[in-house]
Amino acid sequence: MGSVTASLDRIFSEGINEVIVTTFKNAAPMGIIMKNGSLSMIVFCTSHTARNIVRDGWIVAHISHDPVLFVKTAFEDLPEKYFIIENIGDITVHRLNGIQNWIACTAYVENKTSDRIFVKLEPVHVNITSVLPVPVHRGLNNIIEATVHATRFIMNKDPWLADLIRHHGDLVMRCGGEQDKKAIKLLYSYINEVVPETFL
Ligand SMILES: Cc1cc2nc3c(=O)[nH]c(=O)nc-3n(C[C@H](O)[C@H](O)[C@H](O)COP(=O)(O)O)c2cc1C
Repeated sequence: MGSVTASLDRIFSEGINEVIVTTFKNAAPMGIIMKNGSLSMIVFCTSHTARNIVRDGWIVAHISHDPVLFVKTAFEDLPEKYFIIENIGDITVHRLNGIQNWIACTAYVENKTSDRIFVKLEPVHVNITSVLPVPVHRGLNNIIEATVHATRFIMNKDPWLADLIRHHGDLVMRCGGEQDKKAIKLLYSYINEVVPETFL
């Protein structure tokens, strides 16, 4: 376990690290918080992720720079073929096919309020490949911002959030590549299904 913990300090930065978290047959973008060398999550009770963590006690954090995956997993259930089922020690995890960098963790609910759970993570397996460094990219960064706002906008329909999504969407169209542009159009179409004609 010593080497598992040591490498995590180089993977995660202090603060919130945006990753794709899988639980049982489910994937969603989630923030993993690193503070004083410990990992945790704050998860809204309405999510499948929260339900599965409470029931099963594990997650797999995937490090991805795929803008379409962030948008899709925020709004859709991925088909079963996206998942690989793997035994790690005495837990069976579901992780995403095709993503090389992932960390399997036990997930323990430390605290709870009416709307969220506070989850402590203990890494049990780290699978990291030597990949080239990824420079900061405003296309992906603005997809992330727009998608976070979108997951809230579909709940509260606050017009201010729609303005923020539009602002980040404009930056994606200016700074992003083809995948980023595909992702923002997909995001607009998911939002329009819930709140018609928000994005024309
Ligand atoms: C980049 C990003 C980070 C997110 N982080 C969190 C988080 O830390 N906790 C949370 O409850 N929701 C978070 N969300 C919102 C969830 O991804 C969203 O509610 C999703 O629909 C939950 O899916 P599920 O029901 O399959 O778990 C985040 C969304 C994005 C785009």
